[in-house]
Amino acid sequence: MNALTKDLAKLVRMVEEQNSFQGRFRPRLHLTPPVGWLNDPNGLCQYQGLYHAFFQYAPFDAEGGLKMWGHSTSRDLLHWEYQGTVLYPDQPFDCHGVYSGSALVEGDRISFYYTGNIKLDGDFDYVTEGREANTVLVESRDGFQLGRKELLMKNEDYPEDVTRHVRDPKVWKEGDRYYMIQGARRKGDRGEVLLFASDDGRIWKLQNRITTEEPFGYMWECPDYFQIGEKQLLCASVQGLAGKEWEDRNVYQSGYFEVEGPVTGPCRLLDYRLLDYGFDYYAPQSFEAEDGRRIQIGWMGMPDCPAHTNRTIGEGWQHCFTIPRELYVKDGILLQRPVRELEEKRKLREERQDTLVSDDLPVYEVLAENIKENRFRAVLGGELILEYREGRFEMRFTDASKESASGGRTIRYQEMSQLKNVTILTDVSTCEVFVNDGAYVFSTRFYPEKDSIGIEALGAEITLWELE
Ligand code: FRU
Repeated sequence: MNALTKDLAKLVRMVEEQNSFQGRFRPRLHLTPPVGWLNDPNGLCQYQGLYHAFFQYAPFDAEGGLKMWGHSTSRDLLHWEYQGTVLYPDQPFDCHGVYSGSALVEGDRISFYYTGNIKLDGDFDYVTEGREANTVLVESRDGFQLGRKELLMKNEDYPEDVTRHVRDPKVWKEGDRYYMIQGARRKGDRGEVLLFASDDGRIWKLQNRITTEEPFGYMWECPDYFQIGEKQLLCASVQGLAGKEWEDRNVYQSGYFEVEGPVTGPCRLLDYRLLDYGFDYYAPQSFEAEDGRRIQIGWMGMPDCPAHTNRTIGEGWQHCFTIPRELYVKDGILLQRPVRELEEKRKLREERQDTLVSDDLPVYEVLAENIKENRFRAVLGGELILEYREGRFEMRFTDASKESASGGRTIRYQEMSQLKNVTILTDVSTCEVFVNDGAYVFSTRFYPEKDSIGIEALGAEITLWELE
């Protein structure tokens, strides 16, 4: 451990000790940072039974700062225990941020791959110059102690026609070969994914470049690739989408392409579909649990979005992860549902037909099924409205001022011809809505003054559970 690491570790512990993990808006079943700022999920894995989640962590300021990796563990994906900070920006190749990356579990070892970020001082555009993106490996035998950082690739190792924006390695193994994808911004502002291959996980060679036929945004961040059912999916968090289709949506998008053909060779990307239609969702990552489930977790936040805020900043912290979601395919459609561990936390409160009202639960799940004639309207905390009208499902706030429950959020919606069922999962200041068995998901943070729920869905069966 060098002197810088030692002092950083001490400072982080100091600010963490001054914070008590309390706060009126702190969710109970969602991973939150002990203090300061959190963004992307990193290094997600299950190792020797235990779930590990690392997160982009800037502990000194709730509005962001120098990134490190915080570490939390869980036995059930719902109760997370903070374990400390494990990667500090303490080397010449990562001193402006230990950026996002992934974990590969192999036997009795986890290999973590991440981006070491450098931002040079000077008069640069920080796109084609002034930045460095280093690919770094660090291994662990127990998931808690991490070994020495090894610098594997620098900008010179990426293709010449990409800008300095290359990052967020996701690694997997197929047979004896290791594969790594990284998000990239090509010169001329075109997003793509670089695919590298390796025999040993250390020496990497560019094997493929994957993008859409027509340019689609200028940068693809946090790529992920996995097979599920018959499908091969390439996820990417895309920046720079413009035009009518993207009006009334978030500044950046997270979604997936179905891939036709092998990602390692000539392949084609089908239409991009969003993973989430709400206000707060970005940079999701997935991993395969030991029981074979594909579990995806997103950052329940949005970068570069001054339009809305989070009222936890006053409590000294900001942002959380989404509830971990199981991805699965049914009748050819990708669906998402909260991990099944959540069912064990349910305590039945009420079963009703047509309408349901409750006013004292901060953490709950409610399911409206067999919805008739698309009739559905829910009001949460008096200010968050979920409603089907005019051919679309809406998530909207009655008051868009930053001091209200919305924190400045307005409306998000998605067209759909039929509404079959809706699951709402609320955890103090988070709300995740799974529509039609999770074919569409809407996630938002909100800051209600009261814990009320009112649902009207004439003809539907409505069940409310308290979550413990
Ligand atoms: C996505 C992202 C990543 C980067 C990280 C830095 O939110 O911009 O591309 O590695 O955040 O915190």
